[in-house]
Amino acid sequence: MSDKKYYVTTPIYYPSANFHVGHCYTTCIADALARYKREKGYDVFFLTGSDEHGQKIEDRAKKAGLTPKEFVDPIIDNAKDLWEALDISYDKFIRTTDPEHVECVQKVFQKLYDQGDIYKGSYEGWYCTPCESFWTESQLVDGKCPDCGRGVKLMKEDAYFLRLSKYQPQLEAYLEENRDLMQPESRYNEMVNNFLKPGLKDLCVSRASVKWGIPVTFDESQTVYVWVDALTNYISALGYLSEDDSNFQKYWPADLHLVGKEIFRFHTIIWPIILMALGLPLPKKVYGHGWLTIGGGKISKSSGNYKDPREFIRDYGTDTLRYFILSEVPFGSDGNFSELMMVERRNSDLANILGNLVNRTISMTNKYFGGHVDRMKAITDLDKEVIIQLNHLDKEVEAKIDALDIPGALEIVFAALKRLNKYIDETMPWALAKDEATRGRLNDVLYLILEGIRLCAIELKAFMPSTADKIFNILNTKYNTFDYTKVGVKMFDVVEKPEILFTRIDEAEVKARIEAEEELAKKAEHLPEITIDDFAKVELRVGQVLESRRHPEADKLLVSKIDIGYGDIRQIVTGIADKVSPEEFVGKKVIVVANLKPAKIRGVDSEGMVLVGEEDDKIDILLSNLEPGAKIH
Ligand code: ME8
Ligand code: MG
Repeated sequence: MSDKKYYVTTPIYYPSANFHVGHCYTTCIADALARYKREKGYDVFFLTGSDEHGQKIEDRAKKAGLTPKEFVDPIIDNAKDLWEALDISYDKFIRTTDPEHVECVQKVFQKLYDQGDIYKGSYEGWYCTPCESFWTESQLVDGKCPDCGRGVKLMKEDAYFLRLSKYQPQLEAYLEENRDLMQPESRYNEMVNNFLKPGLKDLCVSRASVKWGIPVTFDESQTVYVWVDALTNYISALGYLSEDDSNFQKYWPADLHLVGKEIFRFHTIIWPIILMALGLPLPKKVYGHGWLTIGGGKISKSSGNYKDPREFIRDYGTDTLRYFILSEVPFGSDGNFSELMMVERRNSDLANILGNLVNRTISMTNKYFGGHVDRMKAITDLDKEVIIQLNHLDKEVEAKIDALDIPGALEIVFAALKRLNKYIDETMPWALAKDEATRGRLNDVLYLILEGIRLCAIELKAFMPSTADKIFNILNTKYNTFDYTKVGVKMFDVVEKPEILFTRIDEAEVKARIEAEEELAKKAEHLPEITIDDFAKVELRVGQVLESRRHPEADKLLVSKIDIGYGDIRQIVTGIADKVSPEEFVGKKVIVVANLKPAKIRGVDSEGMVLVGEEDDKIDILLSNLEPGAKIH
C-alpha cells in the first residue's frame, strides 16, 4: 500500500426524505475526487453520513408519532439508496446516532471542559429551529433568521460555552499563514471581515431545551449543541479517542472538507478552534462550493422546487446526472440546474462527442479490419499533434483536480475527444479504405483514435465510472488504469456490436413534458395561509338572480340584478356569458360576496361578486337552497 493518503469528507446531511440534486452536488464532487485519488494510488478514506440530532428532528418525529430514531432510520436507508444509485463510493457512512460517535463527542466535550475551554454560563439569544442556529439581535434580518428568512424565538437558559475568543488570535495567525486552507481563496476575506474582525464571542455549545441530542456527561440537564456534535464526526469516524484509533493516526488531518458556502464558517472558524483546543492538526483544505439553483433560487426541500434525483437517473442514467452536475457549475460559484439543460448537454457532449466517437470508430474498426488493429507503424505531423495532446491529458487533468476545478478537468478530456472527432474528419478513414495502398495508414489512423478513446476513458473513470467501464468493455482492453497511460497498447481487438453509450434524447419532447409538469404544479399551488379572522372579513350571502343581460361591450360578461335579501338589490357583473346565457342565469340562487368594494367593469358598475368554480373550460355556479340574504360561513 502506498504511503500517500487522501481523506475527503462531505458534510453529514440532515435526514430528509427529499434529497435533491443540490445534495448530490457535494457528494458527486467528493466521489469524483475520491475515485481519482484512489486510481492515482492514494490510500483514500471517503466519509459521508447523516446529522441526526436536534430540535428539528425531535419535532418532526413527534408529529409523526415516532421516536426520533424510528423516524430517521428509514430516511437514512433512503439516502443510502440514493448514493448507491449515484455510484457513490464512500468508505464509511457515519450516523451521529452511532454509539461510537456519541462516545467520542462526550469525551471531546469532557476533555474541553476539564481543561477549562468549556465553561458554564447562561444564554439568551434568538434561535432558528430549522437552522439549529442562535443569532444575536444584530445578526437578524428584519427580525428573521439571516440564513433562511424564517421566524426566530428568544431563548434563555443555562448553558456551557466554548472559549472561541481565547483561540481567536491563534486561529487568525494560522489562517493568515495557511491561506490555501480556505478554498476558493476569495472566501478568506469574507470570513475574516464578517466573522473574525468583529471579534469572536464564546459559543454556546450545549442546550437544556433540546432533548434529542448527545447528553453532556457531567451535567444531565444539557445536551451537546448539534454543530459540535456534527463537526466531531470527521474525527469520530476515524476512531479518535477510541480503543482502535489506527484510522485516525493514518488519515487525520483531513485533506479536504467539502461543504456548501452557507456552512463554510462552521468549518473554518468553529471546527478549527475545536481542533486547536484538542491539540490536533487542522484540515488541509476546506472547499466552500456554491449552490445549484433553479431559476436563481437555491434548490431546497422547503421551497418545493426539488425533484427526486432518482427520477433523472431513471430517465437519463447515472452518468448523465453526474456529468451534468460535475461539469456545469464553475469553481465556487452558484450554477443553475435545469432538466432541459441537462438533456441538451447529454445530447451535445455525451451523445454527439463521446458516444458518436466511440460508435463510429468501433464500427469502422470492425468494417475494415474485422475488429483488429495493430500498433502504429508510421507517424505523420498531424498524428504527432494529436499524440502530444493525448500525452498531456493526464498531467493537465491532474492539475485541474489538484486545483479542485472539476469542470476544468472534464473540459480537458472533452477537448481531447473533440480533437479525435476532428481527426476522423481530417483523415477520412472511409477514403483510405478505398485503396489497398493506404491500408497501413488506415490501421494507424484507427489505432490512434482507439488509443485516444482508451486514454480519455481512463481520465473519465472518476467522473463517469460506469461509462468508462462500458468503453473498456467495448475496446475489449484490460489496460484501463493510469499505469497504462505512458505507452500505447500493442493492438486492439474490439467487440463486434458495441453497446450504444448515450442515445440522443428528443429535446422537444422533454420540453413539452416539463411544461406540462410545471402547469400541473402551478395548478396544485396554494395561496399563503390565512387565519379564520381573515376569512371572517368576507361576507357571503345567498342572492337570487332577478334579471340578467349581456354586457353591451364584452362577450364574456353578464350584467345582472341580484336580490341579496332584506331589500338589498345589487347590480353585479359576472364573467360567465360564454358558458351561461342570461335566460339560464335568471332565477338561480347563487352565492355572492356582499362586501366587495364596488368597481366599474368595462364601464358598468358592479357591487359584489358571484362565486363560480372553473376547471379547464367547464364552469360551475355555486348554488344554495337557502333564501336570499342567508349568510354563508
Ligand atoms: O448543513 N446546492 O446539512 P444539509 C448545492 N447537517 N449544495 C447544496 C444545496 C444546493 N441546492 N442544498 C444543500 C447541513 N446543499 C449540516 C452539515 S457538517 C458537519 C453538518 C449542500 O443537509 C449544503 O451546502 O442542510 C451542504 O454542504 C450539504 O448539502 C448538506 O446540507
Ligand atoms: Mg442546509
